[in-house]
Amino acid sequence: MGDRIRESWNTRLGFVLAAVGSAVGLGNIRRFPFQVGEEGGAVFLVVYLCFVILIGFPAMLVELSVGRKTNRNPVGALKMFGGGAWMYVGGLFVVMVFVIFAYYSVVSGWVLRYFFDSFTGAYTEDPAEYFVEISTGLDALFFHAVFAAVAIAIVALGVQRGIELAVKVMVPSIVVLVVGLAVYAFTLEGASAAYAYYLTPDAEVVLSNWHLVLPAAAGQAFFTLSLGMGVMITYSSYIDEDRNLSKDAGMVVSLDTLIAFVAGLIVLPILFTVSDGPSTVSGAGTVFVSLAGAFADLPYGSLVGAIFFGILALAALSSAISILEVAVSYLIDEADVSRFKAAVSVGFVAFLLGVPVTYNLVFIDLLDILAAEILLVAGSLLLMVLVAWLGTDKAIEELKKGIGDLGWMGTTWVWLIRVPVVVVLVVSLYLGFVDYAEFLREDFADFLVGEIRQLQEEPTRVSPIAYFF
Ligand code: PFF
Repeated sequence: MGDRIRESWNTRLGFVLAAVGSAVGLGNIRRFPFQVGEEGGAVFLVVYLCFVILIGFPAMLVELSVGRKTNRNPVGALKMFGGGAWMYVGGLFVVMVFVIFAYYSVVSGWVLRYFFDSFTGAYTEDPAEYFVEISTGLDALFFHAVFAAVAIAIVALGVQRGIELAVKVMVPSIVVLVVGLAVYAFTLEGASAAYAYYLTPDAEVVLSNWHLVLPAAAGQAFFTLSLGMGVMITYSSYIDEDRNLSKDAGMVVSLDTLIAFVAGLIVLPILFTVSDGPSTVSGAGTVFVSLAGAFADLPYGSLVGAIFFGILALAALSSAISILEVAVSYLIDEADVSRFKAAVSVGFVAFLLGVPVTYNLVFIDLLDILAAEILLVAGSLLLMVLVAWLGTDKAIEELKKGIGDLGWMGTTWVWLIRVPVVVVLVVSLYLGFVDYAEFLREDFADFLVGEIRQLQEEPTRVSPIAYFF
């Protein structure tokens, strides 16, 4: 490491807002409400809350204690915390930056496009056709580039002048707008049907499908809290010694959960007002198509559409910058690269990896299932083994700073991460592999067969590049 002074947050609030900004993202608004409605309403919600409190919160404390103790990027942090080979786990986190950012930025690009088109009403005429138009090809590529460029610029400006300043504007705006839209949604005709769909407890669904519902709840908890890829290690490496980490983690977890819950109170009433509710969760575009269609028929629809996609864009941006920062901090700490160069090169490579996604949406699933169901889970699992079984003394020491004696809470925390958290992660990882194998065998194989057939039928179509022009 060079002799450059390491950056830090300017204010106490800066760190919490940045962590909340990372946690609150596309996952909260695009996935969570539909998951709750489909997988058992209030019963799913209770299961999910248990996961967040008993699994997500302790796992977040693990990342925060490692980050603050070492004041390093994930590679340096794990090397320092566990020694030698552990730095490869940090290396895995850096690889994940590229896997996740690639598709996250393409989907966020669509969000930007929808935001701008809320003012022209372009998506209202034929929402399904519009989605097909904009989700792939040059249009998608352009907005993917714009989104990536904004994220890169914020990260390039630094921890205080870039990330902290941005989240201080973005996160409060998200909260205010989300509350505003929930009040609007409450006045809609379909609100009561939506609340019933959202919250009516259906234990049957959870009990009969527990092998699907439990990993879904666990996976969503890790993804939405940005755990398992070093984001929280990186962000907490910029904070001071005297902070109460459990209070900070508690705030991040509660705000993230609250915003996901309120997102359901917005999205579902809107869908129930114009139709019989959401048709299906599957398919990357379903939410876009059904919501865009709904905005066409609602009172003040285009304004509501602009606010909704505006919230989604802010949430996506504040998550995307945290993803980039993991690899950027690695290059700055370990390779002594300037922040500007690090941000531009990491962002550019991640952008390039997103290009295939704009060719065919099957690549979203290829990357998303790999990341959310395998890599993040494996990353968290390795981290738990390191901290919970090999390094509890150091972690407890770190947590005590800013809190004082932990008493029974320290022991409870250690046993939670030693057994339940590890068990949940092992089971989820196994199910993640099964799910991914099925996806590769079916959807992805179909895609490849289709491509090969097309090439045979149209030999002039030399490469996918032709698709863009
Ligand atoms: N937490 C973000 C969301 O819910 O959309 C996504 C995310 C950000 C996942 C950062 C992982 C991560 F490291």
